[in-house]
Amino acid sequence: MSDLQYIKVQWDEELATVVIDRPDKLNALNSEVVQELGHVFRELHDDDAVRGVLVTGGGDKAFVAGADIGELAKMSPIAGVRVSREGQRIFDEIERFPKPVLAVVGGYALGGGCELALACHLRVASDNARFGLPEVGLGIIPGYGGTLRLSRLIGLGRAVELTLTGAMIDADKAERIGLVSAVYPRAELLDRAKEFMRGITKNGPLALQMALESIYLAQDSASASVLAYESTLFGLLASTDDMREGMTAFLEKRRADFKGK
Ligand code: COA
Repeated sequence: MSDLQYIKVQWDEELATVVIDRPDKLNALNSEVVQELGHVFRELHDDDAVRGVLVTGGGDKAFVAGADIGELAKMSPIAGVRVSREGQRIFDEIERFPKPVLAVVGGYALGGGCELALACHLRVASDNARFGLPEVGLGIIPGYGGTLRLSRLIGLGRAVELTLTGAMIDADKAERIGLVSAVYPRAELLDRAKEFMRGITKNGPLALQMALESIYLAQDSASASVLAYESTLFGLLASTDDMREGMTAFLEKRRADFKGK
């Protein structure tokens, strides 16, 4: 795999594990991480030895704690649309990947990190994992497909609740509401995730590919326009005082004081 700053890829027989490795910032997705992720998936796409991909976070605290707030805090509305479209494009490539992709969540999966897990075909978590879409607390909305994919997975009512409260839920609740398929002790997470994946990759690779293609085709009809609209609204919010306040407050480690302007 070519030189990458934030992503490592580990091979174990037919499985590739993509590790987002920026633990000092809880693996937050800056623009380089997003680009590297796209690059890695394009290379794995063409590697016939790979039958399944696991995506996980480096360090022991987080899967991914969201898009990089330091970067987002400076964006103009046009940059906001661009950032959102680019993230959506790469997450879409993951969703359309022709081999099964499993998110292995060992800690925080927040904002863009939760959206990344949603773009994977399947999710498993450690018992200390936390999921949430805290964007509204920063004066923005999910911009990497979360407004579409969360309700598709867990239903409208729960998705609206999670999005509007911005609250975190624990792994047990995530399993109860269908956000993850299984919960494992933290120390066993990666091994158990591989075992879970091998229950899938033992099946016919072409059958898996066609099953994914057919399942996701049925989801596609409204996706493009919903995603385009999500990006437009994400960009629009970058013109507000509320977004500046929300993100500045996070970076200054204080509570935000929103004015609705
Ligand atoms: N973007 C940029 N930096 C982030 C980040 C993000 N989304 N999430 C965490 N970090 C950074 C912190 O700023 C901190 O950096 P510092 O050591 O240079 O100050 C470092 O990662 C560790 O995070 P910290 O907040 O000190 O850890 P914690 O254990 O106290 O709290 C969280 C963990 C996940 C609750 C908290 O980091 C958080 O709320 N992160 C933002 C989540 C979010 O809103 N995501 C959506 C973004 S759109």
